[in-house]
Amino acid sequence: MATKEQVEQMLEQVMVPVVTRSVMDMNLLRGVEIKDSNMKISLSNAALSDDVRDQLRNEIQDKLRGLDGIGMVGVDFEESKPVDVNQIGKVIAVMSGKGGVGKSLVSGLVAVALARQGKSVGILDADVTGPSIPKMFGISGRPAGSESGLMPLPTKSGIETISINYLLPNEDDCVIWRGPIISKSIQQFWEDVLWGKLDYLIVDMPPGTADVPLTVMQSLPVAGVIIAFTPQDLTAMVVRKAVKMAQQMNIPILGVVENMSYFKIPDSDKRIEIFGPSKAGEMAKHIGSPILGKIPLDPELASLCDKGEIEKYDSDVFKEMQDAVIRILA
Ligand SMILES: Nc1ncnc2c1ncn2[C@@H]1O[C@H](COP(=O)(O)OP(=O)(O)O)[C@@H](O)[C@H]1O
Ligand SMILES: [Mg+2]
Repeated sequence: MATKEQVEQMLEQVMVPVVTRSVMDMNLLRGVEIKDSNMKISLSNAALSDDVRDQLRNEIQDKLRGLDGIGMVGVDFEESKPVDVNQIGKVIAVMSGKGGVGKSLVSGLVAVALARQGKSVGILDADVTGPSIPKMFGISGRPAGSESGLMPLPTKSGIETISINYLLPNEDDCVIWRGPIISKSIQQFWEDVLWGKLDYLIVDMPPGTADVPLTVMQSLPVAGVIIAFTPQDLTAMVVRKAVKMAQQMNIPILGVVENMSYFKIPDSDKRIEIFGPSKAGEMAKHIGSPILGKIPLDPELASLCDKGEIEKYDSDVFKEMQDAVIRILA
């Protein structure tokens, strides 16, 4: 006779369209009932459109009818919301004092580092007025969904993402909403997006220490913060504000990443510290958190970001960063 474990194993192979992760990975299974030769499967309907539901029902029926002693397979969908289904291990926010220091780049690289080590990862682009995650990963399109919520869009390597860019009529449109509306949309990205089971959700925070970053930290269960900065003096000052904010909220700072730390002259061992000497050591000491990486100013990295191919980035520096990220975020 078929067992619940067998059913779960089968459902590991049934992919939810769009997000390209399984029914089990999306945490959609609500119940399995087996009575004589009849089986009833209950799934959550969160963010699933009619089409997606039909597709899942057919595929599940086809798969499970092959199980030992099973004749009829019914698939029911229960009313529920993404927030009731989502099971997110750690929410990590990437912060910086100001814009343009490579916060999105660091968010992207941290996500790639985790995904390369087999973790399931999502990115919530909370930088509503300057969203750059879609471009960096080369994603465009509209999220699928239903009245109960939205599906994220996966990157080429399967990192799930949501960004305001996916919802604007035009990719180049800009958002001129006031703080409270922006905060509300970020909260919706948390509650109404079907993330399923994730090991990590990386939040690319809006820059600075104003209203919006504060509401993000208040309304999302942020487990820890990563601080991104460049070696400029002014940055050091604004970073200290961001650090203070996280500390006041009792959110631990898990690590710091210095971006544009130096430029390595091609075919030589020489480095130029374009923005001045590294501040990573000083910053790490001041905050009491480890350095996760010192990223050089790298034309190849800039070009990959422009082409939407950040997932292809590879370098010795990034390998070291990957190790540090896994060690510290595990
Ligand atoms: N270390 C780097 N090497 C090369 N280009 C970089 C580097 N860091 C950032 N950039 C480029 O600078 C731009 C701004 O970075 P971004 O991460 O979007 O900044 P922020 O999110 O802090 O505003 C990106 O388009 C990226 O291509
Ligand atoms: Mg950004």
